[in-house]
Amino acid sequence: MTSMQKENNGLMEKIISLCKRRGFVFPGSEIYGGLANSWDYGPLGVELKNNIKQLWWKRFVQQRDDMVGIDAALIMNPKVWEASGHLKEFADPLVECKKCKRRFRADQIEGANCPECKGELSPAKQFNLMLKTFLGPAEDSSSAAYLRGEIAQAMFVDFKNVLDTARKKIPFGIASQGKAFRNEITPGNFIFRTREFNLMEFEYFVKEQEWEKYFEYWRKEMLAWMELIGLDMQKVHEHEIEKEELAHYSRRTIDFEFDYPFGRKELYGLAYRTDFDLKNHYKEVPYQEEGEEKIYPHVIEPTFGLDRSLLVVLLSAYHEEEDRVVLKLKPQLAPYKAAIFPLLKNKPELVAKAKDIYADLRKHFMVAFDDRGNIGKRYYSQDEIGTPYCITVDFDTLEKGEVTVRDRDTMKQEKVMVADLKNYLQEKIDV
Ligand code: GAP
Repeated sequence: MTSMQKENNGLMEKIISLCKRRGFVFPGSEIYGGLANSWDYGPLGVELKNNIKQLWWKRFVQQRDDMVGIDAALIMNPKVWEASGHLKEFADPLVECKKCKRRFRADQIEGANCPECKGELSPAKQFNLMLKTFLGPAEDSSSAAYLRGEIAQAMFVDFKNVLDTARKKIPFGIASQGKAFRNEITPGNFIFRTREFNLMEFEYFVKEQEWEKYFEYWRKEMLAWMELIGLDMQKVHEHEIEKEELAHYSRRTIDFEFDYPFGRKELYGLAYRTDFDLKNHYKEVPYQEEGEEKIYPHVIEPTFGLDRSLLVVLLSAYHEEEDRVVLKLKPQLAPYKAAIFPLLKNKPELVAKAKDIYADLRKHFMVAFDDRGNIGKRYYSQDEIGTPYCITVDFDTLEKGEVTVRDRDTMKQEKVMVADLKNYLQEKIDV
């Protein structure tokens, strides 16, 4: 192992330990010994995750005229997955070691032998990733259903309903966020690859002759999003997927990869899905503009894994500085926007004033209150979870209405009037 790999492995362990210790991510079902590769978001993790989701929605739906959202059922009519090609094509090549019986994805291992025991591997067979279930009391083929393998299909199946109700003209997009399920052969690397995961994506409908223009447009927008959430852009790389490796629905795909501690792997994807999905779902041509012929719009699909977003946000924000660990999260994403401290715990007038300020600010933001230990320890505790501002209530607060605000990154302090605190924080988190 090279020293770089050791450092990287160390970073992953530190992130997993911080996540557990401070309540970002816990092992799922832990008191029953866990369930391999299942993770639960804790009190701080759910805030961070929601903040990423909300920022994404704000940027790609709320602030655009050409995008509307939906929130669809996780279990769809099985005919959807038949028409979309997922029941036939959504598969990974599986190999099994004849000696130790471990299973691997053939495209993820090097060499012809088992990576664990060097035993002989079986020939690869296609393993379908759709997670099957049964609806109702009978477990037979008539009650079989699937948990959605991608969230995209609802945006195609609902295309006509959205068109009729939202009255949009192409180019326009339908956005969605939610869970997807895949029976992954080799999940792992913390929340990087799991069998249930969160996605944010949109289907952007365009005229066929304009697909290249919009592909390029969304490529740049995706990069701008990655900057916005504070990713270490040196670690982001674009990877053009070879023709033979494209998903069954795609004519062109770029993967945005990230240098994770465990290697360079996919973060997001951008695909040109042509009119493949709409054609499969709609026998009748679904779109027409006045004076023009009916058409099947073509689709550009930017897709953003939410759990991977959270992981790369943490990896990019994590810093060790002399005697502190600090998560330099963008203020918009930080679980708490501020923490409020009374300078001294044993001065009831300071505690009461700090609680008043806390009660007032929490009407507008997620904020924390802490009166334990000394101020230095409270700062470090907030630094480690990425709280961008610490507000100390002291005797100047009682006399002059001023608090001391300490900036997480510069550690500089400034005086701010209590009456201005709400606007002060709002300005820092507005985008
Ligand atoms: N609708 C297109 C689609 O689903 P995908 O590349 O299969 O495309 C989209 O998945 C994104 O979902 C990926 O770029 C990645 O961020 C995330 N993702 C895929 N499989 C995942 C898994 N098993 N665990 C966590 N995230 C996953």
